[in-house]
Amino acid sequence: MPFFKLTDEQLMIQSMVREFSRKVLAATAAERDKTKEFPAGNLKQMGDLGLMGMMIPPEYGGEGADTISYVLALSEVAYSCASTAVVMSVHNSIVCESILKFGSEAQKQKYLPQLTDADIIGAFALTEPHAGSDPVAQMTTAEKKGDRYVINGSKRFITSGKNCGLVIVTAKTDESKKHKGISAFIVEQGTPGLIVGNIEDKMGLRASDTTDLIFENCEVPAENMLGNEGDGFKIAMTGLDGGRIGIAAQSVGVAQAALDHAVKYAKGRDQFGHKISKFQGLRWYIAEMATEIEAARQLMFSAAAMKDRKEKYTMQASMAKLFASEMVNRITGKCLQIHGGYGVTKDYPIERLYRDARVFTIYEGTSEIQKVVISNGILKDKRK
Ligand code: CAA
Repeated sequence: MPFFKLTDEQLMIQSMVREFSRKVLAATAAERDKTKEFPAGNLKQMGDLGLMGMMIPPEYGGEGADTISYVLALSEVAYSCASTAVVMSVHNSIVCESILKFGSEAQKQKYLPQLTDADIIGAFALTEPHAGSDPVAQMTTAEKKGDRYVINGSKRFITSGKNCGLVIVTAKTDESKKHKGISAFIVEQGTPGLIVGNIEDKMGLRASDTTDLIFENCEVPAENMLGNEGDGFKIAMTGLDGGRIGIAAQSVGVAQAALDHAVKYAKGRDQFGHKISKFQGLRWYIAEMATEIEAARQLMFSAAAMKDRKEKYTMQASMAKLFASEMVNRITGKCLQIHGGYGVTKDYPIERLYRDARVFTIYEGTSEIQKVVISNGILKDKRK
C-alpha cells in the first residue's frame, strides 16, 4: 500500500494482473528458464489485456493508464516471471513512451497500435561493446543520403533484439557535437542491413533474449528519425528515467515472490523439533526483508506519482532503481539461505529468482550510475 490510497481502478488492474500472472505466467516460468523460449504467446495475451501499451492513450490503442497502475502491473508480472517482465518493461517504458513523447503523428499512428496489441515487440538499442555507462562514446553512425539515413555500427545487450518487430536505435549524425550529435531512429525488423548477432547465454532472465544488433549499411527513410536531429541522447535519457521506475517495479515483484516462497518454506520445515519459522533469528530476517520491500515499494510509488504529476522525477527514478535493485539482491540471497541446501536446487523457484535478480543492479544504468544521477540532482539543486 502506498502512503496515498490506491484508486478502485488501480486496485482492479493490480488484481486482474495478479490473477493472470499467478495462473498463466507462473505455470511455465521454470520451463521457460530451462528452454529459453521467448514468451511470445503470453506477451500477445498481455497485449489483449492492455498491458503492452498501458500508458499510451486509447486513440493509439493503449489503455491510458497512469504510471502507478503500470508499476503495480509490472510488479505482478515480475512476481511470476521476471523474463516476461523485462520484455514488458522495455516495450512499455522506453519504446512506447518514447514514440508517444517524441514521435511524429505518422509514427504514432503507424507503430503504436501494433505495439499496444503486442503484434510486434519493441526494443531499444543504445549500448555498444565499448559504450555502456557512457553512451556518448557510442560509435554507430547515421549518414544522411538524400531522403534516407544509412546506419552503420554495432549495438550490444539489446533486450528482445531477436524477437522485436522494431528497434529504436541511437546513432551519431554529427560526431563534432558530442551528445547533441546523437539522433534516434525507428528501424523495423527485416530492414536490409539490420542483422541479429550474438545471442547472450545469460545466468538469469533466460527467456528474454539479449543480443547484439549489427547495422551494415542499414537504410531507413528520413521520416523514421524519432524527434529531431540531435535529440537521440535526450530521448534515451528521458526513456531511461521511466525505464528505471520499471526496474524498481521488477525488483519489488521478484523480492515479494522470494519472501513469500521463503515464508512458505519456513512454515513447513521442521528442525530441532520446531518449524524453523519459530526461530527468532529467522523471524528477524523476515521482518527486515518485509520492511526493505515496503521501503522500495514506497520509493517506486513516489517516483511514479511524480511522473504522473508531470514533475521532474529523474533523481527519484534513480533512487527507486538503486534501492530496489540492491534490495532484491540482498533479499533473494537471504531467502535462498532460508531454504538451506534446497535453495540451490531446481526443486524450488528461489534459485531462479536469485539468478534473475542479479542483473537488476546493472541494466538500465548500474547502481554506480544511479549514484551519479542522484548526486548530480542534489549538487545541482540551486537551493543548496
Ligand atoms: N532527461 C532528459 N535529459 C537529460 C537527462 C534526463 N534524465 N539526463 C541528462 N540529460 C541531458 C542533459 O540535460 C544534457 O543536455 P544539455 O547539454 O542540453 O544541457 C545532456 O543530456 C548531457 O547531460 P550530462 O552531462 O549529465 O550527461 P553525461 O554524459 O554526463 O551522462 C549519465 C549522464 C547519467 C552518466 C548517462 O550517460 C547515463 O545514464 N548512463 C547510463 C546509460 C544506461 O543506463 N545504459 C543502459 C542502457 S539500456 C539497457 O540496459 C538495455 C535494455 O534493453 C534493458
